[in-house]
Amino acid sequence: MVKDIDWSSLGFGYLKTDYRYVSNFKDGKWDEGTLSTDETVTMHESAGVLQYAQTCFEGMKAYRTADGKVVCFRPDLNAQRMADTCERLEMPVFPIVRFIDAVEKVVKANLDFVPPYGSGASLYLRPYMFGTNAVIGVKPAEEFQFRIFATPVGPYFKGGVKPISLRVPDFDRAAPRGTGHIKAGLNYAMSLHPIVDAHKQGFNENMYLDSKTRTNVEETGGANIIFVTKDNTVVTPKSDTILPSITRRSLMYVAEHYLGLKAEEREVPFTEVKDFKECALCGTAAVLSPVGKVVNKDQEIVFGMDAMGEVTQKLYDTLTGIQMGRIEAPEGWIKVIA
Ligand code: PLP
Ligand code: COI
Repeated sequence: MVKDIDWSSLGFGYLKTDYRYVSNFKDGKWDEGTLSTDETVTMHESAGVLQYAQTCFEGMKAYRTADGKVVCFRPDLNAQRMADTCERLEMPVFPIVRFIDAVEKVVKANLDFVPPYGSGASLYLRPYMFGTNAVIGVKPAEEFQFRIFATPVGPYFKGGVKPISLRVPDFDRAAPRGTGHIKAGLNYAMSLHPIVDAHKQGFNENMYLDSKTRTNVEETGGANIIFVTKDNTVVTPKSDTILPSITRRSLMYVAEHYLGLKAEEREVPFTEVKDFKECALCGTAAVLSPVGKVVNKDQEIVFGMDAMGEVTQKLYDTLTGIQMGRIEAPEGWIKVIA
């Protein structure tokens, strides 16, 4: 029985569900893993994650489709990106096949928490890993825990389709150089101050420029960015210091193959932003959130719309249509779980 939750009023927060997946790495191998009802973690006071932030995470969603199935969107890409992150952080890879199997187990064990079709909510999944044994010299841990919990969520930005505002901060891109393309705890800790500061100034998020030249658009604290030119080309910043968003890769494919639009991944100098017709943030949590305004010191760029721009709306409808089974998906994009 689907839980009695007011799905349409859910924001992006944590709500405890029944089961999470836990697997431990010790003596060079992963144990077989298990589902647990315990949402707490107890560990050593000098654990690698606590001392040197040796931790990483992923974000993905399960959806209920128009025909009553429960599906996941491209979980293999999350598994692969987490493997890439682990390699860069000297953490053991949780094998791709086991990652997908664990996702399936967690979703199946929490089926009652998968929001109903059409509610606007979905079940957010958070796979993550951290170093658990004591380290005090600066070196990688040797023991790790991999977990996946699930929590039903609504929109990342409050206010539905109301366009959000961004500002270009004085802060550099949050990620230490060379780690922008991984999804790791430390990157996000460094972005907390810029985000709090943006909120204080009345903005929803930061539009980071590249830290080397501070001329090209990168991404925001929790999402990539797409733009639409006046002649309807979809443009997204090319950079190897941003997180390679799975939503963005999917949108670029949708633009080209479903909507017949030109899609370009290329450097986007900030000076070009004023010439675009539409701008939106894209990500698992953000989905596709329209941007109404970008402020860089005393320059204010207004995209002049009250809701989603025309092309953004088409991209949104097609992507969410694929995710929720209304539109046929490209081969391999949808994993049916129940
Ligand atoms: N960029 C950052 C910094 C993020 O935290 C996220 C969220 O996962 C994204 C981009 C979007 O990535 P994806 O579409 O794979 O969720
Ligand atoms: C996601 O979209 O899954 C994210 O990780 C964004 C965020 C909540 C940091």
